[in-house]
Amino acid sequence: MIIAIDGPAAAGKGTLARRIAQIYNLNYLDTGSLYRAVALKLLRLGSDPTNFELAVKAAGSLDDIALDDPALRNEETAEIAAIVAANQAVRAALLQYQRDFAQTPTGAVLDGRDIGTVVCPDADVKLFVTASAEVRARRRFDELAAKGIQTTYDAVLKDLEARDARDQGRGTAPLKKADDAHLLDTSKLDIEAAVTAACKIIDAA
Ligand code: C5P
Repeated sequence: MIIAIDGPAAAGKGTLARRIAQIYNLNYLDTGSLYRAVALKLLRLGSDPTNFELAVKAAGSLDDIALDDPALRNEETAEIAAIVAANQAVRAALLQYQRDFAQTPTGAVLDGRDIGTVVCPDADVKLFVTASAEVRARRRFDELAAKGIQTTYDAVLKDLEARDARDQGRGTAPLKKADDAHLLDTSKLDIEAAVTAACKIIDAA
């Protein structure tokens, strides 16, 4: 079984995908961490975020990049990830890794922006998880505050909206709901309610 989960930043995809992977005993890949890993490599090399040649090289040697490095979660890394992710050659370099992961015999959950549309168009279940920009910004702000990171709600909202616009507006694999994806709006749902709603969809598929 392959479950594809897409949606904008801070919609709760990651938490939901992890829980679904546990419940259905599937492997889990957070594909955003691949783009973040490429971004982090550029940052650490002091490179310009638009040095796509170097970004493609980094994408081709993913084994060197720690996918559990805490710096992957920084807002600066996310911002550069969205820049490298708009480049077609970078996306092409990361595609096979994701498809191979999805083909693991025990089945997989992948979350990202283009899983249902490009990476796994034949996934057994597709979810498009979203929430209003205000709700997503509030969740991200609370998360950052809990980590002791100083910022304001308005700054977080502005960053999220800019990243969404970049992800939705790019020419290659833009963020969009696949025609056959189930829409799950988590604006009014806590994580337990979102998991219950997702399981209902999966069990009915
Ligand atoms: O999901 P996350 O916020 O970690 O993703 C970081 C960035 O990586 C996104 O804003 C997006 O630009 C890019 N991304 C992508 N396609 C994916 C996953 C992430 O373009 N499948």
